[in-house]
Amino acid sequence: MGQPYQTIRWHVDPEQSVDTLSRNKDIHEAARMLREGKLVAFPTETVYGLGADAASQEAVSAIYTAKGRPSDNPLIIHIGEKEQLYTLAAEVPPAGEVLMRRFWPGPLTLILPHRGTLAPKVTAGLDTVGVRMPSHPVSLALLRVSGAPVAAPSANRSGKPSPTDADHVWHDLQGRIHGLVDGGPTGVGVESTVVDVTGEVPLLLRPGGITWEELQEAVGEVQVDPAIVQEGTAPRSPGMKYRHYAPQGEMWVVVGEGAAQIRRVQALADEARRQGKKVGIFSTEEHRAYYQADWVLPCGSRQDPASIARELYRGLRRFDQLGADTIVAEGFPPEGLFHSVMNRLSKAAEGRVVQA
Ligand code: TXA
Ligand code: MG
Repeated sequence: MGQPYQTIRWHVDPEQSVDTLSRNKDIHEAARMLREGKLVAFPTETVYGLGADAASQEAVSAIYTAKGRPSDNPLIIHIGEKEQLYTLAAEVPPAGEVLMRRFWPGPLTLILPHRGTLAPKVTAGLDTVGVRMPSHPVSLALLRVSGAPVAAPSANRSGKPSPTDADHVWHDLQGRIHGLVDGGPTGVGVESTVVDVTGEVPLLLRPGGITWEELQEAVGEVQVDPAIVQEGTAPRSPGMKYRHYAPQGEMWVVVGEGAAQIRRVQALADEARRQGKKVGIFSTEEHRAYYQADWVLPCGSRQDPASIARELYRGLRRFDQLGADTIVAEGFPPEGLFHSVMNRLSKAAEGRVVQA
């Protein structure tokens, strides 16, 4: 089939207010395409999403085709107004209400029992649905103007790092989708936190932009899906079981601090270079000057976990462009946003995580 579409790319100013953007003619054009059942990628505060009308089985099917996504992996529904939640969810348990009030709009997805009003493909046949209200002004304006709930996975080809810039979307999906709203780089850099609130105690299925600590502060006890921390356990969130976020090169992650971490990272890099590999090191600002490799790319500062989340996918994609055969990345203690970063790093590394 190749590249069936001439993808339209609109540039919009992400600094404008939601109200101003809601009058923007390009946003209206993109919203019209969504209503017509076409595929439109757009920025959210986490990563770019690939949107389609969630009520249209055909439009939703097209998402799976464009991404090359396995059909047993359900999609997140994006809404522009909190009230829309009640048209999608059969019931919103008290913990769901609290989390929604506290974190919406923002990088939190709630898993709730659904009403059966969506295209069955959206939920991959499950009796639950994931819903979130993003905070990015461009996505809010687009969702409000379109008026429809929009199903949107991350706008990458399946298995690739999620797109944190419009160029990443263009690279992966140009010609496979109808439109791309370019609103510059995204802010958070890792996907939304996914929390199942259908049970007695909320269950964290995917760590993301909202931390476990923040969730606990809002609702008390929050359990963590064991699959997040333990390799080989069947995850409750279907999407968590696939190879993901992965660059082409073989990746290693070294957890630790200071001189011990630096020594171990360099040793792995040296060994790969002896085998004739092109090697990249993904280093925090603090350690960058200590390394030697074919490429040493910065992944943000240890003092600022948000900077590391923001740089993560950009860096992994950059190593692909450079043609790195081996990537050695610094790892972090699994706290706060580092928990989400480590989850993505260990998936990208397919579990090749070592202690310094
Ligand atoms: O930040 C984000 O969440 C981005 C932006 C575009 O909003 N979207 C995103 O979507 O990351 P996606 O499709 O790449 O990841 C959705 C995750 C998957 O792990 C999927 O299995 C899980 O949410 N999920 C969706 N519906 C679910 C459900 N009913 N039960 C359990 N997990 C679900
Ligand atoms: Mg994804």
